[in-house]
Formats: sequence, C-alpha cells, structure tokens
Amino acid sequence: MNEVLIRGRVLTFLTEPQGIDDAASYRYIEDGAVFVRDGKIVEVGLYGDILKLAGADIRIKDHRPNLILPGFIDTHLHFPQTQAIASYGAQLLEWLNTYIFVEEQKFARAAHAAEVADRFMDELLSNGTTTAVAYCSVHPESVDAYFTAAEARGMCMIGGKVMMDRNAPDALRDTAQQGYDETKRLIEKWHGRGRAHYAISPRFAITSTPEQMEMSRVLVAEHPDCYVQTHLSENRDEIAFATSLYPEAKDYTDIYARYGLLNNRMLLGHCIHMSEREVSVLAETGALGVFCPTSNLFLGSGLFNAARFDELGARWSVATDVGAGTSFSMLETMDEAYKVLHLQGQRLTPFNSFYRMTRGNALALGLERQIGSLQAGADADIVMLDSSAKSAMEFRMRTATSLAEELFILQTMGDDRCITEVYVAGKAMKTKNKKPGAVARQPLQLA
Ligand code: GUN
Ligand code: ZN
Repeated sequence: MNEVLIRGRVLTFLTEPQGIDDAASYRYIEDGAVFVRDGKIVEVGLYGDILKLAGADIRIKDHRPNLILPGFIDTHLHFPQTQAIASYGAQLLEWLNTYIFVEEQKFARAAHAAEVADRFMDELLSNGTTTAVAYCSVHPESVDAYFTAAEARGMCMIGGKVMMDRNAPDALRDTAQQGYDETKRLIEKWHGRGRAHYAISPRFAITSTPEQMEMSRVLVAEHPDCYVQTHLSENRDEIAFATSLYPEAKDYTDIYARYGLLNNRMLLGHCIHMSEREVSVLAETGALGVFCPTSNLFLGSGLFNAARFDELGARWSVATDVGAGTSFSMLETMDEAYKVLHLQGQRLTPFNSFYRMTRGNALALGLERQIGSLQAGADADIVMLDSSAKSAMEFRMRTATSLAEELFILQTMGDDRCITEVYVAGKAMKTKNKKPGAVARQPLQLA
C-alpha cells in the first residue's frame, strides 16, 4: 500500500460559482490535508482530522503555505504543434498551410513523435495540467506515441488521430476508408486501457469529404463511449469555405449535425461566429463549445461569447489550443479568457476561472467523479500553487486580503513558476521533469 498525506491550503469546487461571493460553491480549508492511497483520494479535510485517520506513521508532504487544488484540465490542444507555437503573422487557413501542415508531416517519423510526446506531457505537468484532450497527427504512430507517453506518467489523457482526406498536403491525407480503419484499430488498442480515452477526430469540415464525415458518423455510432472532437466557426474565411463545401447544410453547425456527430461527448473547438440557431443546437444536443482564448487572440479569430452560451443553455469549457494557443498554462489561459470576456462587457470571476480549469472542465468531459475535484474516491491528480512565485507576485500578494483576490493574482500574473508540485495518481511528477540542459540549435539568420 502506498500512502501519503498532502498538507496545505485545500481548495476544491462543489458547484459552479454564481458570483464573486458565492462561498457555498467551494470548499476551502486553511490547514487542510488530502489523504492519498494507491493513487486515489481516501479523504480530504482538516489536517488534524486527516492525520488521525491516516495514523501517526503516515508519510507527510507539507506544502504549506501553498494552495492545493485538483490538477488542471485542458479540453483542446494539438500535440504535434508543440514545436510550432509562436508562428508569425497569419490567420487560421494561411497559418495551417504555412506552418502547421508542414510541422505535422514530421510525425510520420515515430522517433520524432515519441520525442515530442514526452516533451508535451512534461510541459503539461509543469503547468499543473494533469488531463488534456489533444489531437494527434494523421499518422497512427503519433497516437501510439501520445498514449505511450501518457501511460508512462500515469496520466488520464484523451486523444485521437486526425482524419483528413482533402485540402491538406498529400503526405497528411488519409482516405475515408483508411481514416475509419486506422481509427478503429487505435480505439481497440487504446480506448479504456489504463486511463486512456479515445477521441474520434475529423479535423474540420474543410479537410473531410462527405465520405469521411459519413465514416465519422459510423465510428461515433459504433463507439458511443468515445469522445468526438472537431473545429467549428473559428474564422470567417473558414466558415465561408466550409459552408461552400456543404451547400446543403443550413450553416456550419448543421454540417456536423447532418452527420449525427453532435452529442454530449462532442467537443467543438472555438464556436466564435455562431448564430443563435447554432448555439441552440449545441444546447439541444449537449455538444460542448470549447473556448480557447489565447488562440483566438493570437490568430485574430474573434471573441467567444460565453454569456450567450449561458443564456441559451449551451455548455462550454476552456482550453489552451496549443499551438495556435500561445501557452500550455491554464493560468495564462484564464487570464486571457478574463480579458476576452471583459472586452464584451462580461465578467469572469476568479472563482469561476478556477472552477472552469478543474471541476467545470471535468463535468464537460463527464469525468467529474474521477478528476477535477478533491473528494473521496477521486483519482489523486493534484496541483500545488504558490501565489508568490515571482517577485512581482510576492509584492502584490502583500496587499491581498481575500481568497478571491489571491486567485485573481494567480491567474493574472501566474504561470508555470507558480506550480510547485503536481501529483498524478498520487505520484509527485513536477520535480521529475527538470528543464533539460542547453542543446545545439540552428544558427539564426540575421536579416
Ligand atoms: N482548425 C482546423 N485545424 C486547426 C488547428 O490545428 N488549429 C486551430 N486553431 N484551428 C484549426
Ligand atoms: Zn484546435
């Protein structure tokens, strides 16, 4: 039996916070502890009570005065784009063609995929993210690399091979049949193995023919317990192109609806330029809109309207969308989310931000019993946060008087330096992935 008691300031959410003062929505324990046994949380409570329960011989990890939260959850990003973050100057379609479809071709080499998968998982963990939903490349080997790296770290990860059979370079195209066959094989190999979940991943309507969409429908019908992910209404040129390829559809959302893809396991990246009808369809089907603020600003895509999703009863989650997203950090992501909503006269409270990164995203994935909360029976994916990790933060924190203020400082000024430790299924991981030493890099060409 492997047991540990983690001590610190415990914060976990119970329901969605309804305002800045909604103290009933969370549980906060100033001298708290989480008792972990064999990768699961046994109990959470006051340190004194948990110590009694665990017994005097228990191994104690004392993280005071840091906060202890559930590990963060990222609901949309692209593992093959890890080395293509910060690609300059283009909006979505040009950016895909100029940078991304070049980068993703490298994943035909299994050794490259394996190297990037290791870096990708370590980067997530350094940022306190313990679960993510990612696209792999079109190559099945990239999915093997992804889940192998996740399994080696014990992480609960969701992912799948992108299917694309048109409007992409030859080397990145499958066919409708190949996409189906390869996806099927990968589901059999990985879905439900340890903590892995498969996401059926037609990239978006532009890169899939009607035949491939039809195959996606079959896959979803045959594997209702898999996730499905694609992109929707991110950019105006994209919308015009997609709807021109499916003239029979009422709008972009209707393309996916016609192929039976909209259900409560469907994740739709971006959902920015949507009509009321389209958001209502998401509400009716339970499909999830995924808000990716750093990406939407970086590609100049537009502003996600969270209030409209709420008003129409549609579900939404938050995500980094690396590599259009500019950071692996969910703290930095929520900083930008706050600003995107602020620009539209909407207000995201600090409690709501931290709820979204944890329990909110877990609920969005239907995984709220396993992850996203510090509660008895849950998996012990846990993050420790230092609100004074940078000198400017430490100075600012001297005047903070409430938990809400501390959380807002963390989200506004924080990044991976604030993550002092991360536990995956009860194992400390951050201290394991030290920054690699300097390596030779290509000489720069000075203009
Ligand atoms: N739409 C289709 N593919 C992609 C992608 O890789 N990134 C983003 N941001 N949008 C997409
Ligand atoms: Zn994406």
